[in-house]
Amino acid sequence: MSQYQLLSHSTEDTVDIGERLGQSAASGDLFALDGDLGAGKTHFSKGLAKGLGVKEMVNSPTFTILKVYNGRLHFYHIDAYRLGEEDVGLDEYIEGDGVTVVEWANNMELPEQRVNITFKRIDEHVRALYVDTKERRYEQIFKELTAQ
Ligand SMILES: Nc1ncnc2c1ncn2[C@@H]1O[C@H](COP(=O)(O)OP(=O)(O)OP(=O)(O)O)[C@@H](O)[C@H]1O
Ligand SMILES: [Mg+2]
Repeated sequence: MSQYQLLSHSTEDTVDIGERLGQSAASGDLFALDGDLGAGKTHFSKGLAKGLGVKEMVNSPTFTILKVYNGRLHFYHIDAYRLGEEDVGLDEYIEGDGVTVVEWANNMELPEQRVNITFKRIDEHVRALYVDTKERRYEQIFKELTAQ
């Protein structure tokens, strides 16, 4: 398990971090996001979409649980905030072809193979991103992002 801590100093910074990851993402990748309300999970997801070449506007899917977008790969944006015990059949997306991001990931059971990011609000503009992952492919990218 590798752990990284990144600091974002602005909304744009968080979008840029997501974009960098989206550029390198491959089919089957899963990003599990947690952290306080308004900590930046959706803005990170917007960046991820941008890096995947999604042209559509990505908004918080809070009222729909899942939104599907198309870029160079399918992009599945899940918001598990309101997810209860019911099985809503999201597995076929998560295990399918494409890149998945889940906000409020602690509310779901997810495959082990994933990138976990916990967002923490430090002050009005600063966010800490705590990353842990067993995905070797992402090690170099997070090292680069940590060094910035
Ligand atoms: N460094 C930063 N990174 C991300 N967002 C920031 C940052 N600084 C300020 N913000 C602001 O914080 C808010 C983050 O909102 P966002 O919807 O991305 O959070 P969220 O974690 O998805 O919230 P929710 O739990 O409601 O889904 C936005 O208004 C954004 O402009
Ligand atoms: Mg959100």
